[in-house]
Amino acid sequence: MKSIRVALAGAGNCAWSFSQFVAIAQADPDTKLPGLMCPMVGGYRLSDVHIVAAFDVDAKKVGRPLAEAFTAPTISATGFTRLGTDGDSMVLPAPLLDGLDGPLGAVVEQAAATRSATEEDVAKALVEWEVDVLVITLPTGASQAVHMFANAALAAGVAVVNATPEELARNEDIRSRFADAGVVILGDDLRSHVGATSLHTTLVELLLSRGLVLTSTYQLNVGGNTDFLNLADSTRSATKFASKANALRAAGMTDVEGAAGPTGFIEHLADTKVCFAHLQATSVLGSEVEIDVKLKVEDSPNAAGVIANAVRAAKVATDRGLSGVVDEASALLFKSPPHGLPESEARSAFLNFAS
Ligand SMILES: NC(=O)c1ccc[n+]([C@@H]2O[C@H](COP(=O)([O-])OP(=O)(O)OC[C@H]3O[C@@H](n4cnc5c(N)ncnc54)[C@H](O)[C@@H]3O)[C@@H](O)[C@H]2O)c1
Repeated sequence: MKSIRVALAGAGNCAWSFSQFVAIAQADPDTKLPGLMCPMVGGYRLSDVHIVAAFDVDAKKVGRPLAEAFTAPTISATGFTRLGTDGDSMVLPAPLLDGLDGPLGAVVEQAAATRSATEEDVAKALVEWEVDVLVITLPTGASQAVHMFANAALAAGVAVVNATPEELARNEDIRSRFADAGVVILGDDLRSHVGATSLHTTLVELLLSRGLVLTSTYQLNVGGNTDFLNLADSTRSATKFASKANALRAAGMTDVEGAAGPTGFIEHLADTKVCFAHLQATSVLGSEVEIDVKLKVEDSPNAAGVIANAVRAAKVATDRGLSGVVDEASALLFKSPPHGLPESEARSAFLNFAS
């Protein structure tokens, strides 16, 4: 029977939504799931995914089964369903490093068991649980912790999906190490399913494809989950700004610095994210075109839709003997792949890969 054994580095909001998406698929593998872009990726259904372990540092999560960990106070994503047997998988301690630097340190208590945890322990657990794919959903800015998980996965020969904007796939040294070791890595920074980046880059591509000259644009984002709390600290959000700029560059824009990023934490929004995108361009005879749009989404399910494609793509690539970064998957699913493409080209490449 086909199966993909997944471990989650970070049992936070994205992990919770993804786990629910998998649970719904497992309960009825033949059901049509809204938002599931590809029922099959290289012969794998979403119901073939099994979440066998998770790692975290939160005292409310470590040492507990996943289903209980997802009741921690920092979880604000909606509970749509209960987890099946994957909910019994345990949350294991991981080294903290810079995981809770910034505002998160005030809302999360570090689990005592994490103080002695090492990278080697993580690698050992990945081998012990026969993990195929490690999904890294750590806080943005936790560069040391993200690199630690990448190194542990590499040592264990486990494929990596980097949902965070920290530099892994776009770091030449790291992707070469994965390629040399015959291990797949996909990243960086999830491009949410129908999110601010996809909306903004689609509009940029529309205007540029008609020969207009873009004169001004910005993308403002507010939300109330721990991701937005963390991103409210400028020492944590730098890689997110850089990543969103990479996505705009791939869409054809040149002047991208600071044009898009997280702009505010509004606690009562919880897992709701609101994006305001503005574009102004010069058209025929110097006439002006102005677009202002608002997008309101539940942030974490929006990530789950992409992780559902990414874990299956990582396993398919591994089955096919590929290693390092797989451009056909990374260009569509991430904001900052090493080789970015306009979304229409990225989508064709992915659908071709997934067929
Ligand atoms: N739509 C989306 O939500 C979306 C889209 C693109 C990218 N992302 C990225 O995904 C990542 C995760 O987002 P989230 O909303 O799930 O965040 P979250 O704050 O809900 O979860 C992060 C989890 O990581 C844990 N953690 C911190 N340090 C750790 C360590 N050293 N080892 C193990 N666990 C550790 C925290 O305790 C928490 O459980 C962020 O980097 C975010 O920018 C999210």
